[in-house]
Amino acid sequence: MTDKTVKFTTEGGDFTYPLLEGSVGPDVIDIRKLYGESGKFTYDPGFTSTASCQSAITYIDGDEGILLHRGFPIDQLAEQSSFMEVAYLLLHGDLPDADELHEFNYTITRHTMVHEQLATFFRGFRRDAHPMAIMCGVVGALSAFYHDSTDITDPQQRLIASHRLIAKMPTLAAMAFKYSIGQPFIFPKNDLSYTGNFLRMTFGVPAEPYEVNPIIERAMERIFILHADHEQNASTSTVRLAGSSGANPFACIAAGIACLWGPAHGGANEAALNMLREIGDVKRIPEYIARAKDKNDPFRLMGFGHRVYKNYDPRAKVMQQTAEEVLKELGKTDPVLDVAKELEHIALNDSYFIEKKLYPNVDFYSGVILNAIGFPTEMFTVLFAIARTVGWVAQWNEMISDPEQKIGRPRQLYVGATMRDYVQVADR
Ligand code: ACO
Repeated sequence: MTDKTVKFTTEGGDFTYPLLEGSVGPDVIDIRKLYGESGKFTYDPGFTSTASCQSAITYIDGDEGILLHRGFPIDQLAEQSSFMEVAYLLLHGDLPDADELHEFNYTITRHTMVHEQLATFFRGFRRDAHPMAIMCGVVGALSAFYHDSTDITDPQQRLIASHRLIAKMPTLAAMAFKYSIGQPFIFPKNDLSYTGNFLRMTFGVPAEPYEVNPIIERAMERIFILHADHEQNASTSTVRLAGSSGANPFACIAAGIACLWGPAHGGANEAALNMLREIGDVKRIPEYIARAKDKNDPFRLMGFGHRVYKNYDPRAKVMQQTAEEVLKELGKTDPVLDVAKELEHIALNDSYFIEKKLYPNVDFYSGVILNAIGFPTEMFTVLFAIARTVGWVAQWNEMISDPEQKIGRPRQLYVGATMRDYVQVADR
């Protein structure tokens, strides 16, 4: 809190509001009393100027291209840390020591199995169902299976629900994949890492042993770390809004998954790879750049632009490097990577993209990596959901413990009809 204030003048008089100061980043005008005192609302569709909460988890400086989790830069975490360590960091506020990390790993590993009855949920879906449709359903359904961790007023139950969600997401995601290709579900294996376990449940078959490739495992760890949290993005805000009514955590995360599915958010990695494939050849890039710039064409360069980053998304840099490493390890070449690099080069030198500060985002290169590993495009957003579950549960826990938390209930600028009398149908 500062002693700085902001004065606001309207026909009703002068009103003064406190200016709140975070540890870093822009100050925030505390307008909580604005309506009560002045009778006015603020108008901010898309919340471009609105801080919906206070949070100590993630900090983004979009102009500088900085992303910090609990103060640690994302590139250091992606290079040196593990996904489990980042999960602990986001949930508990600091990096774990060796014992804490061991215990956390142990706990998460012991929650990876799902109730056997859940398998029957999958069988209710068409085989060609989008795996995100399945995930919305089965994650929401967890609330019907784990009643002993839905009392949100009990911190211990909240922690258990958080562990369950982090642990079970890879199992459910792998089951969604296996169901779509008609292969048997693979049970988790406790001596593997979180990521290695997920790779085995996805690509292994009961008929033969599955060897986890350490380079691919490391690449998946990085992808998960890079997607773990991103402050008050659309899906996280959805989780918080759903949770603000007191809904149970499994239902809240299902709401987050639904929001993540959209092509402007988590669905962008699928859309980006589809777009790169459609372009297919560097010779066709100018045609697509022209379409992206054409006001009368709804086409956008997928994987480009970001609400907050008006600079290179720091996650995109690590993704590009990882894409090169994975292709090298697998001995693959992918013309799509050449198209992506050339498209980036051309766009970054084009005045339209320069003026609008449009840079590649995290999704621009992730599709190339996931495709090389063997994931079908429909699974891309599911992988994002696995990783983001960590951020969602950390943010949800933070919200529930925040004494200033209230049910999220925005107001509106009403532009509809004013009061009028009902007319009988015969007289209309
Ligand atoms: N290609 C072409 N033009 C673009 C693009 C793009 N990818 N993104 C934004 N623009 C243009 C818009 O047409 C608009 O131009 P105008 O001012 O002349 O009307 C201007 O840049 C600002 O765009 P907005 O949509 O107002 O910006 P906003 O912050 O609301 O949108 C968003 C951000 C949704 C990410 C947008 O850049 C986009 O649609 N990108 C493609 C989808 C994508 O990659 N999403 C992933 C986001 S990252 C994530 O979820 C992990």
